[in-house]
Amino acid sequence: MKHIAILDFGSQYTHLIARTIRELGILAKIYQHNVSVDELGDNVEGMILSGGPQSVFDQKGLCVGNDILGMKVPILGICYGHQFLAHKLGGVVETGKVGEYGMAKLNILKKSSLFEDVPKETQVWMSHSDSVVSVPDGFDIIAKTEDCNVTAMANEKEKIFGLQFHPEVAHSKEGEIMIKNFVVGICKASQDWNVEDFKDELIQKIKKQVGEKKVFILVSGGVDSNVAFALLTKIFGSKRVKGLYIDTGFMRKNESERIVKRFKNLGFDNLEIMNASKLFYERLENIYEPEEKRAIIGKAFLDTKDIVAKKMEFDSDQWLLGQGTIYPDTIESGDTKNSNTIKTHHNRVDVITKMIEEGLIIEPLVDLYKDEVRKLGRLLDLPAKLVDRHPFPGPGLAIRCLCSDGKSDDQIKLCSIDYNLKIFCDKKNISIELATLPIKSVGVQGDNRTYAHPLAIWGENEWEKLVEISSSVTNSNKDVNRVVLLLNKHEKTPSFYNSQNPVFLSENRIELLREIDQIVSDTMREKGIYSEIDQFPVVLIPVYNKVGKESVVLRPINTRDFMTLHFYKMQRDILEEIVNKIESTKKIGYIFFDITNKPPGTTEWE
Ligand code: XMP
Repeated sequence: MKHIAILDFGSQYTHLIARTIRELGILAKIYQHNVSVDELGDNVEGMILSGGPQSVFDQKGLCVGNDILGMKVPILGICYGHQFLAHKLGGVVETGKVGEYGMAKLNILKKSSLFEDVPKETQVWMSHSDSVVSVPDGFDIIAKTEDCNVTAMANEKEKIFGLQFHPEVAHSKEGEIMIKNFVVGICKASQDWNVEDFKDELIQKIKKQVGEKKVFILVSGGVDSNVAFALLTKIFGSKRVKGLYIDTGFMRKNESERIVKRFKNLGFDNLEIMNASKLFYERLENIYEPEEKRAIIGKAFLDTKDIVAKKMEFDSDQWLLGQGTIYPDTIESGDTKNSNTIKTHHNRVDVITKMIEEGLIIEPLVDLYKDEVRKLGRLLDLPAKLVDRHPFPGPGLAIRCLCSDGKSDDQIKLCSIDYNLKIFCDKKNISIELATLPIKSVGVQGDNRTYAHPLAIWGENEWEKLVEISSSVTNSNKDVNRVVLLLNKHEKTPSFYNSQNPVFLSENRIELLREIDQIVSDTMREKGIYSEIDQFPVVLIPVYNKVGKESVVLRPINTRDFMTLHFYKMQRDILEEIVNKIESTKKIGYIFFDITNKPPGTTEWE
């Protein structure tokens, strides 16, 4: 079948390119970057080289074979793909002193078939540190940004193009038009691929993989595993599909009862519940490192599953293990060969990876993004309550309750942040106070995992200014990957203390988080803003005030696919109400609001 080939250098966004093209009604397939001409076959109408975490200067700088580049089909390089093309074809790439992460203004310098119907100035989304500084012979520089002179290049005659920014992410305003210009205008691909076909294709694929076996699936209560469980049950019936809901002890208030009841009311009689919280808490005792927590939780899920499987006398000749894994879960675990591990999702721990290799796992949604999972759910007539709820991560509140070894006084020196931010704020007439927090959180920058400090600021409340401050700080300072706004008003000069003793996951801390999370959830629903927000984590952090109370971070976000996100600019009066309610519990020290987009922040803090 004719298609567009995407050669993957390990970018987190590779599948977004494919999806954008599929949404245009054109089949797009992803291949490893070192695919052979034979494997690609004769049906390639155009080729896209993805971004990736490496640099063309790396010893093992990834490349594409000369024979592939000589296939005489149009080529578009994105980010690393753009740098690779420039480097390979005789241009010059340099390692940048300042990275560009987030929004940038693109200035189009020259007419190009790639920029048909794109205004001369538009917003694009960047995530890079290397840059092309000189283009190969036969190429023109067709666009630039303030920090990058060769943001786009074109050889119209040979139909080879390069873009430093990511047209595939939603934050590149005209990105979809540019991709359409490439695949439809330049590659001349016809637009006849559709979602209905995809659903049928998917069901056929699932039926083929399951064969005569039965499926045992872990249901976490989140959208993905709910949809996967319901989908499998619809295909194979409740006799061949058994769901297991494991109560880890890290669920939201009354969540376990609610999920099981909801499925029961829908007529699903194949979901069992097991309370395994004792095992989870025991194993997580004394653990504070985020990746270690994730690995233990993943393993504890499997061990619990084994206990139940043994009781039910399942054997792998007859049963497959189902999981609600969706695409971003795999890519952010470094699952595509070239990508960097950002967070190990609980369903991508070593044991599971081994079982996948042995063909013992079925992941019906693994090629899909969250919005596609929802679309699929609707196509299958699943109720909105299952399909449209905010996602909730498998490891639950455990990854929203940060721990500490109690040793490291992690406060970093503020000089450089101070200096850069002062210049920035002076220029913009902004006056703020700031301090780093003595903890770290996980983030993502230029396809790599970061584990760095949040910067707390206060004194400015206008969202638009806060957006600018946030990206200015994280763009110019590698030691900070998040910026949070302090919401408490009563303290003029707050002091943020780290814990003097180790702090781990305890039932008391989770109960405290549960209480605050419930306040936030209830207010969000009362105020009718639930559907305006895509997810609203509340994070408990071991940052103390002077009377030893812990702090929380509010993290409401908007996103299309969780690969990139904007923080949600909440109405001030609603935010104030939430703060007042939290303060009135008298159990929380500081309350912060996360004003970091993704990248450089992620949805969850670990
Ligand atoms: P991040 O933090 O990577 O999260 O921006 C993207 C989405 O994934 C969810 N998430 C998880 N879901 N198991 C899950 O089932 C996990 O281990 C996990 N970690 C993050 C997160 O809540 C968000 O919706």
